[in-house]
Amino acid sequence: MTEWWRDAVFYEIYVRSFADSNGDGVGDLAGITARLEYVRDLGVDAIWLTPVYPSPQRDFGYDVTDHCDVDPRYGSLADFDALTARAHELGLRVILDYVPNHTSDVHPWFTEHPDRYLWHDGPPPNNWVSVFGGPAWEQVGERSYYHAYLREQPDLDWRNPEVREAMYDVLRFWLERGVDGFRVDALRQLLKDPQLRDNPPNPDFAPGMPEYDSLLPLHTTDLDELQEIVAELRAVIGDRLFIAEVYVEIERLMRYYAGGAQMPFNFHLLSTPWEAEAIGDLIERYEAALPDGAWPNWVLGNHDRPRIASRVGAAQARVAAMLLLTLRGTPTLYYGDEIGMTDVPVQRSDPDGRDPERTPMQWTRDGGFTTGEPWLPYGDLTINVEDDPHSMLALHRRLLALRRGFAEEGYRTLHAADGVLAYARGEHTAVALNLTGEPRPLPVGGELLLSTHLDGGARGLRADEGVVLRI
Ligand code: GLC
Repeated sequence: MTEWWRDAVFYEIYVRSFADSNGDGVGDLAGITARLEYVRDLGVDAIWLTPVYPSPQRDFGYDVTDHCDVDPRYGSLADFDALTARAHELGLRVILDYVPNHTSDVHPWFTEHPDRYLWHDGPPPNNWVSVFGGPAWEQVGERSYYHAYLREQPDLDWRNPEVREAMYDVLRFWLERGVDGFRVDALRQLLKDPQLRDNPPNPDFAPGMPEYDSLLPLHTTDLDELQEIVAELRAVIGDRLFIAEVYVEIERLMRYYAGGAQMPFNFHLLSTPWEAEAIGDLIERYEAALPDGAWPNWVLGNHDRPRIASRVGAAQARVAAMLLLTLRGTPTLYYGDEIGMTDVPVQRSDPDGRDPERTPMQWTRDGGFTTGEPWLPYGDLTINVEDDPHSMLALHRRLLALRRGFAEEGYRTLHAADGVLAYARGEHTAVALNLTGEPRPLPVGGELLLSTHLDGGARGLRADEGVVLRI
């Protein structure tokens, strides 16, 4: 099996918001195809497209009505083929979002094959809560069906062999069309406790936290038996890439490697406080937990979480980029983070309040995403690809080029001053990141290869500065 993804950098494209080719204000596949050279020149190796399937868009494509077609808003299967062909020509791989846990409630299966879904005879049998809040059961007449997410997203019953076969056929359909792999959505949810036991209360729950966190999802996620399905998915996906969306503790996450996923997404940076010590501990815990032969990966942002530039501020977002792109393991970059896009305070359409991090890509000082009215407003357009006034894009390009020199090298924490995170990659490269707004001493001497400030530096660490050194 080729392991191209080990040294690769992934770029997540939120399809609705990347590039609109027909002026309807919604991004589409032809728009993406036209921008692939930008993606290649950025220096990434693979794109992951959020769901392209026909969908009533209640959860923007994660509510699928046909797994083997393209939503007309985004184009056609021919447009998909054209995108894949162009990407491959440019040396970019294409990863599809595969949504196995649920369908839309208007998917024909829901009426034609209700037995493919998780029904209970009677009113809601337990306390299970939807990820988006509220009860996870919807009563219809005498019966209730389970939905981990929206009421309009009934969960499939993965204990039904017919469901497994039908959903494996979906993978085969796209594999034949030439995709390079899948990001498997909501994988941890596929199996639920057959006894339908109540989930226990979460002792760490505090007011203000999302309702979903009031319970520990012991009986609704990450069941031991799930690994059997992970292995089946692995077998069907064959020699292509299997990325898994699994929000679980580090120790549990490692089981997904054993099951056969090559990249069980490591989301822990998203929830770790932005402090040198906390991040250093996280890296060490994660590195130590990796089973033999498992390759690490890191995620700093995605379409479900606030953007990094909003979370840590513009200055630290540069340090964060250096962290993501110099750690050992495959990074996934969220579109727009490479120019420092921020969350846009808007609440128009997403049921879970995620519009702010999904706004249109800022190509030019006029926007440049569409000739029409964008489906969500732009953010601060002084941040854009064309101008790159803060050289955030330039920094990303430099980092992406530089990392090729040490992508496979080992990780070793270096001792550093308070507020500084420092590590070596192999024998000859060191990274020192100042997570504070004050100057700090450098932990090691060496020749400056790159500073997040792009100019000067390396006698010490300036405020909010990260450096890569040759040691
Ligand atoms: C995943 C997706 C998210 C979606 C959910 C339901 O978490 O990333 O956007 O709402 O699954 O499919």
